[in-house]
Amino acid sequence: MHNPKHIVITGASSGIGAALALAYAAPDVRLGLSGRNQQRLEQLAAQARAKGANVVTATIDVTSRGAMNAWLQSLDAAQPIDLVIANAGISAGTGSGNETEQQIREIIAINVEGVINTVQPMIEPMVARGRGQLAIMSSLAGFRGFPGAPSYCASKAAVKVYGEALRGDLSYKGVGVTVICPGYVKTSMTEPNKFPMPFLMTAEKCAEIIKRGLARNKARIAFPFLPYFFVWLLSLLPPSLTDHLLAVLPKKAGR
Ligand SMILES: NC(=O)c1ccc[n+]([C@@H]2O[C@H](COP(=O)([O-])OP(=O)(O)OC[C@H]3O[C@@H](n4cnc5c(N)ncnc54)[C@H](OP(=O)(O)O)[C@@H]3O)[C@@H](O)[C@H]2O)c1
Repeated sequence: MHNPKHIVITGASSGIGAALALAYAAPDVRLGLSGRNQQRLEQLAAQARAKGANVVTATIDVTSRGAMNAWLQSLDAAQPIDLVIANAGISAGTGSGNETEQQIREIIAINVEGVINTVQPMIEPMVARGRGQLAIMSSLAGFRGFPGAPSYCASKAAVKVYGEALRGDLSYKGVGVTVICPGYVKTSMTEPNKFPMPFLMTAEKCAEIIKRGLARNKARIAFPFLPYFFVWLLSLLPPSLTDHLLAVLPKKAGR
């Protein structure tokens, strides 16, 4: 959608979400921003207001289905939402051993159920209007299970496929759906990583690419090209050929 006027972004209190909020902030634009850290959210809101945007913030955990539903409905009632970016997410790996059950459940709850809690309430009103756009934050980690971060990869694969399937249905009803698959981005999520992160980019650059792709209603915004090509190829090759290679890759720390 070109020039969306009412944009909702979850996980806007830092990293990619914050950069997206500032990329969209402009006069005549209304931003609904959520996260859990109120202080960081308010700092960001002040920056967005300084760029002329009308900003509403909410400290809501995306796993709270009822709270997310009520918040989205109230925003939509104030002014129909044009674009929802389901961005909130967490990561963790197996660097310090195996994933704990608690870590797995937390990642799935936030990265998968949190996305559903963000997208689902908006489908009906957008379809009724025959207008709107849903953007789902996946990752290049969603193309193949990496031993260093099993539940993170699983969560990103789940929302990638969910978004692709939704698009096939909703595009005929006037609603765009885009799946976003970035490589390494410099945020608090990647800050603890002690291993080399090829093609690491800033959150600002990442937000620019996403904004451009969303304006074109792309089905998939996957970048940078070489890491994208690498994971795409990995997903095509038989596991018997790739398991050995993936087993020696460095692992992300656990939670
Ligand atoms: N960084 C990368 O390399 C990379 C690559 C591909 C995809 N991604 C994806 O991009 C998204 C943003 O990540 P980021 O790199 O920008 O990390 P980040 O700086 O850690 O930001 C994560 C955001 O998600 C919010 N969040 C986490 N759990 C939440 C919950 N339960 N309820 C509500 N908000 C919650 C955080 O809010 P609070 O801090 O206020 O809790 C924060 O605003 C994630 O989905 C991530 O998986 C990141």
